Amino acid sequence: AAREAAAACQDLEALAAAIEAFEGCPIRFEGAASRSVFSRGPADAPVVVVGEAPGAEEDRLGRPFVGKAGKMLDRMLESIGLADRAFITNTVFWRPPGNRTPSPEEQVVCRPFVEQAIRLVRPRMLLLVGAPATRCLLDQAEGINKLHGRWFEWRTAEGDLELPALPTFHPAFLMRQPTAKAMAWSDLKLFAERLN
Ligand code: URA
Repeated sequence: AAREAAAACQDLEALAAAIEAFEGCPIRFEGAASRSVFSRGPADAPVVVVGEAPGAEEDRLGRPFVGKAGKMLDRMLESIGLADRAFITNTVFWRPPGNRTPSPEEQVVCRPFVEQAIRLVRPRMLLLVGAPATRCLLDQAEGINKLHGRWFEWRTAEGDLELPALPTFHPAFLMRQPTAKAMAWSDLKLFAERLN
């Protein structure tokens, strides 16, 4: 159902409306989410960033990465000249109860919307922040310690689009584990080198 709904969307406004109308992801109805949270950033961004799921601030404001982790993400993007030049979204569009990680099934249900967002923005590259985004888009089950800083080729299910994708650490993880920041900065440098 998500695949047909997403495929019918010719622009991001239509996609946001299709997500708003979509009732196929149980996480939406578990009671933590008060609204849908789709994206922020320019529709013609050279880069799409995919996170995990909205948190409390995102649920309150209706935009992804607007809380503490979002400030950290903005600093990460700024460090490679991408402030306000990234289209930012998540693997699911509703706040999970207790901010738990969305299950692989919940991510798979929502994935056609993420794919269509990437198709419509048509960025040059993807930055995947954290293991859940990496698992969802690249079907990689290893931890982020193994996957960060390695290039992957992301493909739509239909095979009509392929893009280089780089996993790195989630900004919320970096706030808890500041010692991982050095690795994240070197991932970002790698990303910027390929982009520029
Ligand atoms: N963490 C995420 O993964 N996404 C958000 O939108 C906010 C925090």
